[in-house]
Amino acid sequence: GKVGVLFGGRSAEREVSLMSGAGVLKALLSRGIDAHPFDTGLRTLAELAAEKFDRVFIALHGRFGEDGSLQGALEQLGIPYTGSGVMACAVGMDKIYTKIVWLMHGLPTPKYAVLDSGADLAKVAAELGLPLIVKPPHEGSSIGITKVGAADEFQAAYDIAAALDDSVLAEAFVTGRELTVAILGRGADARALPIVEIVAPKGNYDYQNKYFTDDTQYFCPAVLEPALAAEVQRIAVEAYRTLGCEGWGRVDVLLRESDQKPFLLEANTSPGMTSHSLVPMAARAEGISYEDLCVEILRSARL
Ligand code: DAL
Ligand code: MG
Repeated sequence: GKVGVLFGGRSAEREVSLMSGAGVLKALLSRGIDAHPFDTGLRTLAELAAEKFDRVFIALHGRFGEDGSLQGALEQLGIPYTGSGVMACAVGMDKIYTKIVWLMHGLPTPKYAVLDSGADLAKVAAELGLPLIVKPPHEGSSIGITKVGAADEFQAAYDIAAALDDSVLAEAFVTGRELTVAILGRGADARALPIVEIVAPKGNYDYQNKYFTDDTQYFCPAVLEPALAAEVQRIAVEAYRTLGCEGWGRVDVLLRESDQKPFLLEANTSPGMTSHSLVPMAARAEGISYEDLCVEILRSARL
């Protein structure tokens, strides 16, 4: 049937999605699939409906693509789509609600506080300790994130995040190794791919070091004791399942240096598929090519 590759969009991660979409489109075409690009940032839902796609591959990141709103529209239009459904996307796009769900299930995630404009930042800094991390809860690709090393940097970090979002998340900093776990499937069938470890220059895995520099080092499979690797994968899969994720996704984890305890940071329900991205890297380590990965994800599309 006719496949739409949805990309672009109008979130802060539009640029990333343009790269993901180009990669996915090329991969599907190379496998003889009748795939067509569709830029959801430039075209309307009525135009999407008029294309009469039999299914769509969502290669969108951030708001209006990864947050459940588009998934809801596709449900209404009756078009099967890749990845998680409305609820998991909506919760996964919100780093605060994600933490609440994980904590309810007894899963480990760093201590946090939700800040509004009246927040007593000195008190929060005392509670969480320094350094701490300030994040806009609905962004991706590290956009708007600041590490606060001293109390007098907190206000500026808050202002950066508050300019992008309605609420602001402050999170205790976990010193340790940066890992990510790509996951395929759903429910009891969800399975982890090999763990990726990210070693960014000065520990700064920011937007530039994610997509544009070649200074970030990646290790896949990450060098970990087998029992510890299995534990990280188990927790990540449980984190994915408790959010109700489907199809594919990626759960980011920090491994605390002092005691090797894993902490869950966030779930990505529509992860990057760029040449620098981590899900394709993890798939490759298991012998799954980028093209096969795209075909497998497309095959899992459902309503
Ligand atoms: N938010 C980016 C696209 C990722 O998680 O890969
Ligand atoms: Mg993210």
